Amino acid sequence: MNTLTKLALGLMGQLKAQPPAGDAQSVVALPPAQTFGGEPLMEALSQRQSQREFRPEPLTPHLLSNLLWAACGVNRPELGGRTAPSAMNAQEVDVYVALPRGLYLYDPKAQDLKLKVARDVRRVTGYQDFVDSAPLDLIFVADHARMKLVPASMRESYASVAAGAMAQNIYLFCASTGVATVVRAWFDRQALTEAMGLSPDHQILLTQTVGYPQGPLQPEPEQSTPR
Ligand SMILES: Cc1cc2nc3c(=O)[nH]c(=O)nc-3n(C[C@H](O)[C@H](O)[C@H](O)COP(=O)(O)O)c2cc1C
Repeated sequence: MNTLTKLALGLMGQLKAQPPAGDAQSVVALPPAQTFGGEPLMEALSQRQSQREFRPEPLTPHLLSNLLWAACGVNRPELGGRTAPSAMNAQEVDVYVALPRGLYLYDPKAQDLKLKVARDVRRVTGYQDFVDSAPLDLIFVADHARMKLVPASMRESYASVAAGAMAQNIYLFCASTGVATVVRAWFDRQALTEAMGLSPDHQILLTQTVGYPQGPLQPEPEQSTPR
């Protein structure tokens, strides 16, 4: 759907999720994340960029698992530490995963996806047309109930910083694996909040599209072995 149509539907309160493509499983187990290998950091930084043209093919389960772990996975199990920082370690930002078959919540501890809405909400995650057909749109959502120790006036900015760190983790992961991504803030907050069925404690901060870049589909790099 083009941007003008989305803007018009948004004004009428009619920008809605679509029926899902296929049956949505209530829990999708992700393969264990591969937490080693990849491009050296300085090379990934050299290649980091926003891209807005995506092939429609779904990401492989391994790639999705690694990508979500890079965003905010558990990297120090003994402490419950994450790959992205959060003020007072409140871990208040959740990553929702909009797939054609449904909207899922990424659970970093279980390394799985929990079904939240059995609808295709991708179209509602942004005014730009590519979000409808890209295979994956992520939504960063702050849960204000987890920020009781943070002064109320600081909660939104602290959570936005945490979401920005996750988004950059994803940019670097994508640069390192040859996957396309763009972080986005231009979306209809009310329509997306309704489509996701969020409560008043929840605040959508950012969205991010991910997919294979346009052009021939490249084979996924071999899984390397840990050092
Ligand atoms: C907070 C924020 C919001 C953004 N929102 C959008 C957006 O809604 N749509 C979009 O296409 N790009 C969006 N971008 C991506 C920027 O346009 C992009 O980072 C900028 O043009 C620089 O390009 P680069 O990322 O390739 O260096 C956003 C970036 C940030 C940091």
